[in-house]
Amino acid sequence: MPDNCYVPIPMTVRSVRAESDDRTLRTFDLAFQESGRRFDYLPGQFCQLSLLGKGEAPFGIASSPTEEGFLRFTVNRVGTVTTALHYLDEGETVGLRGPLGNHYPVEKLKGQNVVIVSGGFAFTTLRSLVVYMLANREDYADISVIYGARRPGLMLYRDELAEWEKRSDLGLHLTIDKEAEGWDRQVGFVPAVTEQVAPSPDDAWAVVCGPPVMIKYTLPVLFKLGFPPERIYTSLERRMKCGVGKCGRCNIGSKYVCADGPVFSYAELQELPEQF
Ligand SMILES: Cc1cc2nc3c(=O)[nH]c(=O)nc-3n(C[C@H](O)[C@H](O)[C@H](O)COP(=O)(O)OP(=O)(O)OC[C@H]3O[C@@H](n4cnc5c(N)ncnc54)[C@H](O)[C@@H]3O)c2cc1C
Ligand code: FES
Repeated sequence: MPDNCYVPIPMTVRSVRAESDDRTLRTFDLAFQESGRRFDYLPGQFCQLSLLGKGEAPFGIASSPTEEGFLRFTVNRVGTVTTALHYLDEGETVGLRGPLGNHYPVEKLKGQNVVIVSGGFAFTTLRSLVVYMLANREDYADISVIYGARRPGLMLYRDELAEWEKRSDLGLHLTIDKEAEGWDRQVGFVPAVTEQVAPSPDDAWAVVCGPPVMIKYTLPVLFKLGFPPERIYTSLERRMKCGVGKCGRCNIGSKYVCADGPVFSYAELQELPEQF
């Protein structure tokens, strides 16, 4: 972080590409304009991206700290800032504040089995986590990834998923909601596929990110399989302003999602006043 955490760091768009066939998702690789700048982060953290005259919004970091030279973000176009970001071309400048928030418990996961369950474009920071664990493969036991999208064209990072499918040290289970031409993997909703895959809870931790409905129906499956709430982690999204625990925009009870989160264990969430 710069000395003043409210001052954005100027970043250059190094590359940009459409991530989904409906063009609602775009992936940006950003590079620091200042050479040699240090930026220490871990999977699960996020940044505020800003464009002059448009505003600022939080986005999870999709790259892994083990990948040097760029920071990756995948942006779903929903409103003012995200639409403006979609118009960015290579070589243009975007402001960045971060890294913000906490991260997935990569230390606690060491030596343990890790089950990642995800749906839709929430897979961004989980890509960071998977790439990080694969780069430190000897630190982790079995890694399983269950990832679903409505249809193949909405699945993020498809080229990379194809590479992961070839690996023998990663169990990848891809699913789409309904049959589609040319799709020869699983079909069905993420909670049902999680039940079929039935990952063992022994020495295992689950990290679950996705649309609320997916999380709602996946949690009971994980509980039934024997995962306790303190071994299930998720990442929350809330509207934010400062991103550093000052403005009170993102609080849930006594917790600020931007500073105490966005990563929480389900046991922590059960202590909060709101239902998730
Ligand atoms: C920690 C964190 C990580 C995030 N990571 C990503 C990411 O990797 N990729 C990505 O595309 N998005 C991510 N988001 C969501 C993203 O911040 C919002 O989509 C963005 O702020 C919308 O800005 P906008 O100006 O385009 O939308 P606005 O014009 O402000 O609003 C458009 C619509 O989106 C809704 N909306 C705005 N912000 C949010 C929000 N935070 N949560 C739910 N609904 C919202 C509004 O209610 C409105 O309906 C993340 C949010 C958080 C808090
Ligand atoms: S966004 Fe300001 S306190 Fe969280």
